[in-house]
Amino acid sequence: MQRTNENLIAVAGATGQQGGAVVRALQASSQFKVRALTRNPGKHRELAEEVVEADFDRPESLKAAMEGAHGVFLVTNFWEGGTNELKQATAAVRAAKDAGVKHFVWSTLPDVDAISGGKFHVPHFTGKAKIDRIVKEAGFAHHTFVIGPFYYQNLVGTVAPQKQADGSVGWTLPLDPDVRCIHMGDISELGNIVAGAFAHPDEAGNGEYLPLAGDFMSFNEIVDTLNRQGHKFSLKQVPSKIFATFFPGAAEVAEMFGYFQAHTYLGSDSRDRIALANKIAGRQPTKFSTWARLNIPFQTPRQKM
Ligand SMILES: NC(=O)c1ccc[n+]([C@@H]2O[C@H](COP(=O)([O-])OP(=O)(O)OC[C@H]3O[C@@H](n4cnc5c(N)ncnc54)[C@H](OP(=O)(O)O)[C@@H]3O)[C@@H](O)[C@H]2O)c1
Repeated sequence: MQRTNENLIAVAGATGQQGGAVVRALQASSQFKVRALTRNPGKHRELAEEVVEADFDRPESLKAAMEGAHGVFLVTNFWEGGTNELKQATAAVRAAKDAGVKHFVWSTLPDVDAISGGKFHVPHFTGKAKIDRIVKEAGFAHHTFVIGPFYYQNLVGTVAPQKQADGSVGWTLPLDPDVRCIHMGDISELGNIVAGAFAHPDEAGNGEYLPLAGDFMSFNEIVDTLNRQGHKFSLKQVPSKIFATFFPGAAEVAEMFGYFQAHTYLGSDSRDRIALANKIAGRQPTKFSTWARLNIPFQTPRQKM
């Protein structure tokens, strides 16, 4: 039996949004020691007390990354070119198991294929859900599934408002804007749930699903919230088939919005899971209006002299 350091947690994606949030929450709790994992430890020495090289495409690099760790947080990045999430996660689970890790936390998403009966294909969701069974069957003493929401941060990133043909600034989306279907959240708060799960394995380490959800909104409600804060964003609905021609990869985004509209982001009534996640995090997540006021500030146009 390998010896593990009872409070050492190895965190994948530590230089990114999810893993970074987990590093900060674990450090703030002062109950845990963090081992930040990255492909480029030399560039990120300041991240944590221990910064160790791990490349999920090079399984041989994972032994040292997992050695002696009590817990592991794993997120894979679908959007990085060439990523095979199943292969990477399988390598990580195997390395963690071999190293004697006791508690494995996997950042998953709903199984869109199963929920929609094969109607919608959203590989960055379903591909993660398919990994759940591998985590479960690995036989860790404890395992937990966390579910990232539609990041509020998307609205200042990949889904930022854009100049429209009519001169307005806003969104053109393949989504009925009146349907309340988007479970959203400030991804920097995911760490509170993960740190809580490591701290409370009896309550959250038996295969529980813990979604982060600060708000549950329709796109009209998102736009109304922003416009009440001074913005003048527009919103237009287009058929999925037309949206799919807008940019490379738009077809998958259209499928994702189609799934949201038909089944919601989380795919089922998740109030009990959200309540448990908030309890484990020890706090309520931030509402969209509060986050937006700070992060999408409206600047009053300068008065002409
Ligand atoms: N945007 C959303 O609304 C949303 C919602 C739910 C889930 N997600 C999922 O979130 C995931 C991305 O997470 P994020 O937002 O935290 O990403 P991010 O901020 O872009 O960071 C990606 C992280 O992945 C690490 N990484 C990538 N390839 C790696 C490899 N081969 N070996 C080791 N580490 C690797 C990078 O580490 P280094 O570069 O330091 O090695 C980096 O820390 C995606 O799979 C996406 O589907 C997104």
